[in-house]
Amino acid sequence: MSFIWKLCGHYNAELDTLAARFLPWQLFSGTFVSIERIKSLIAQDMVAVDAVIREKLYSDVELIRQVSEYIINSGGKRLRPALVILSAGAFGYSGKYQYNLAAIVEFIHTATLLHDDVVDASELRRSKATANALFGNAASVLVGDFLYSRAFQMMVEVDNMRVMRVLADATNTIAEGEVLQLLNVHDPDVDEENYLRVIRYKTAKLFEAATRLGAILGNAPSAEEEAMAVYGMHLGTAFQLTDDMLDYSGDYQETGKNLGDDLAEGKPTLPLIYAMRTGSSAQAAIIRNAIEQGGEGGFQPVLDVIQQTGALDYARQRAQTESDIASRMISLLPDSDYKECLLQLSTFAVARNY
Ligand code: IPE
Ligand code: IPE
Ligand code: MG
Ligand code: MG
Repeated sequence: MSFIWKLCGHYNAELDTLAARFLPWQLFSGTFVSIERIKSLIAQDMVAVDAVIREKLYSDVELIRQVSEYIINSGGKRLRPALVILSAGAFGYSGKYQYNLAAIVEFIHTATLLHDDVVDASELRRSKATANALFGNAASVLVGDFLYSRAFQMMVEVDNMRVMRVLADATNTIAEGEVLQLLNVHDPDVDEENYLRVIRYKTAKLFEAATRLGAILGNAPSAEEEAMAVYGMHLGTAFQLTDDMLDYSGDYQETGKNLGDDLAEGKPTLPLIYAMRTGSSAQAAIIRNAIEQGGEGGFQPVLDVIQQTGALDYARQRAQTESDIASRMISLLPDSDYKECLLQLSTFAVARNY
């Protein structure tokens, strides 16, 4: 029963008793898998990462400080920097570059969010008004550029060509993913393969970069570096598959984002693709129409078809498959608390509700 805390090196009898009451149902319904608990092993490191983030956020330009501090201070799970620290730890690295690289990865992530919320016309993130809702689209795009370029300044300081290549490639691939997705908007003929390519590019690539960077810092043998990278890629794919389910089934108080944003935008995500593929022609027509019109017929008819076709179960299974592959990729690494936390993150990516 006590496996989460044991795994993460922090056994606590009280929590264990609590777990005995909730497991296994809540563990798998997602209410019990807490990222904070998983990250408790690296709490001190995450404080160090936060210090770098705060220091490097500085600019003389007041509007940059306002917008960037607003989004950074509104929280976020800090999952990608945690991946850098955990994968470096799994290979025995304890030097200081892990904090710079973790902060760089979070800056890149934050820049993509600033841009993404403009593109998606989203109004809520991290349970607060988005930066675009508060400061306008122009400020969001430009401060996103500031964060991207600050990340590149920080990379130069690390002065490692391999690191630079991993991050430059990841940033470029994310942009390709977002543009590919733009091309798919309002297109009901996008298939599962095309959708998966988009999420691998726009989301999984940065997870892959984070875990690969940790392995590079830890001087991992190349096969193990590759295994960590593939772990990150499948973890990120599971994470985005789950994100796309939560857009139909989540609770905005937990996700901190408005439900239905994807439909309003006409995004053909997996629940819709599956519902069209397996539903009756009448059901498929409801979904096609919703994608073409950006959900103007309302959210409920689409939710009904999603439910009738079991589309969320399918998407969950798909995410589970990715998560299982991720876990298998790192099963041969030497046992450590870091490895166990990485395995727990595979569970979190699918079971999460935030
Ligand atoms: C949001 O990522 C963007 C996606 C790839 C789905 P997170 O869910 O990690 O966002 P924060 O940083 O915790 O807010
Ligand atoms: C986010 O995709 C991917 C990137 C930020 C590159 P989404 O558009 O699904 O993420 P949310 O739902 O806005 O967080
Ligand atoms: Mg979005
Ligand atoms: Mg989303």
